[in-house]
Amino acid sequence: MYNSKITGLGYYVPENVVTNDDLSKMMDTNDAWIQERTGIKERRHVLKGGEDTTTSMGVKAAKIAIERAGIDKNDIDFIVFATLSPDYYFPGPGVLVQRDLGIKTVGALDVRNQCSGFVYGISVADQYIKTGMYKNILVIGSELHSHGMDMTTRGRGVSVIFGDGAGAAVLSREEDTTKGILTTHLHSEGQHAEELSLIAPGMGKRWVTDILEDNDPNDESYYPHMNGQFVFKNAVVRFSEVIMEGLQANKLAVSDINMLIPHQANLRISQFIQKKFGLQDDQVFNNIMKYGNTTAASIPIALTEAWEQGKIKKGDLVVLAAFGSGFTWGSAIIRW
Ligand SMILES: CC(C)(COP(=O)(O)OP(=O)(O)OC[C@H]1O[C@@H](n2cnc3c(N)ncnc32)[C@H](O)[C@@H]1OP(=O)(O)O)[C@@H](O)C(=O)NCCC(=O)NCCS
Repeated sequence: MYNSKITGLGYYVPENVVTNDDLSKMMDTNDAWIQERTGIKERRHVLKGGEDTTTSMGVKAAKIAIERAGIDKNDIDFIVFATLSPDYYFPGPGVLVQRDLGIKTVGALDVRNQCSGFVYGISVADQYIKTGMYKNILVIGSELHSHGMDMTTRGRGVSVIFGDGAGAAVLSREEDTTKGILTTHLHSEGQHAEELSLIAPGMGKRWVTDILEDNDPNDESYYPHMNGQFVFKNAVVRFSEVIMEGLQANKLAVSDINMLIPHQANLRISQFIQKKFGLQDDQVFNNIMKYGNTTAASIPIALTEAWEQGKIKKGDLVVLAAFGSGFTWGSAIIRW
C-alpha cells in the first residue's frame, strides 16, 4: 500500500470582479447585508460572451498544478473533475479536460457532489493511488455559477453568495505512509436533497418536450434553490462532526491542526467552527471575502492560496472539510 500526496496546486479565477455594490444595481440588496450575513465583499464572474467555461478554467488551474508537480501532462494516469456547473449536460468536463490538455486517453471521472466535490474527488483519487493502480491523478474543482443564477431580487438569497473559479491538485504516489493524505471521510444524507438543489434540467419529473412547449419564463426550477437557514444549521453540525471523525481516526486532537481549510460556504460558518474548536486565526484559512462560495472549487483555491502564502509547511497537519448540497459532507486529514 502507498499513500498519495499533493505534489502540485493551482487555481484560476476570472478577472472580472463583481462587488456587493455592483449586485445592488441588479437586485434589492446591499453591501452591509451581504457582509454581515456571509462575510463576502466581492466575487468573480466570467464575462458574458467571454472565453471562460467551467472546463477552460479547470484546464488553466490544472496546467499550473501539473507544472508545480514537476511532471509532464502525459504522466497523468487519471482525471477526476468535480463540478455542479458542467459545460454540457453530458458528457461531463473530465473528458473535455483530457481533450483540451491534449493528454493520452486516460480515464476521466466526473464527480457530482457539489460543495463536497473536491473532498470526494481527492478521496477517490487517494484510493486509486493507495492500491497502486495509478501514480499521478489530476483532481479539478471548477464552477461557473454566474451564467445559471437568478440575478434579480427573486434570486438574491442565493446569487449574492456564489462565484466563479477553479482549483486543481495533482496527487502522486508517496511511499512513506505517514505522509500525504492519511484518511478521508465521506457522508451523505439524501433526505435533504431538495433543500439546496437545482431541479431542472433533470429528467425526473418532466419530459423535455413538455418543458420546451411550456417555455415558461417564470419557471424557477432552472435556478438554484437554497433553504439558507436549514443549510446553515446542518452545516455547522456536520463540519464539526466530520473534522472530529478524521482527527479521531488518526488519534489526533484539535490542537494538532496546523491549518484547517474549510469549504468557503459562508464566513459565519467558518467562524463558528473556529470558535467551537478554539482555533487561532492563523490555523483557519478563509478567502470567501474575495471569491464568494465557489462550490467544488473553493477548497482547491483556498488550499493553493494558503500554500502560496507560505501558510502550509512541510510536516504540517492540514485538514480539509466540506459540506453542501445533497446533503454531502467530508473531510481529509493530510500530513503535508
Ligand atoms: C443565505 C443566508 C446568508 C441568509 O441569511 P438569513 O439570516 O438566513 O436570512 P433569511 O433567508 O432568513 O432572510 C432574512 C431577510 O433578508 C432578506 N434577504 C435575503 N437575501 C437578501 C439579500 N441578498 N439582500 C438583502 N436582503 C436579503 C430576506 O428576503 C429576508 O427578508 P424578510 O425578513 O423581509 O423576509 C444564510 O441563511 C446562510 O448563509 N445560509 C447558509 C448558506 C450556505 O452556506 N450555503 C452554501 C452551503 S455549501
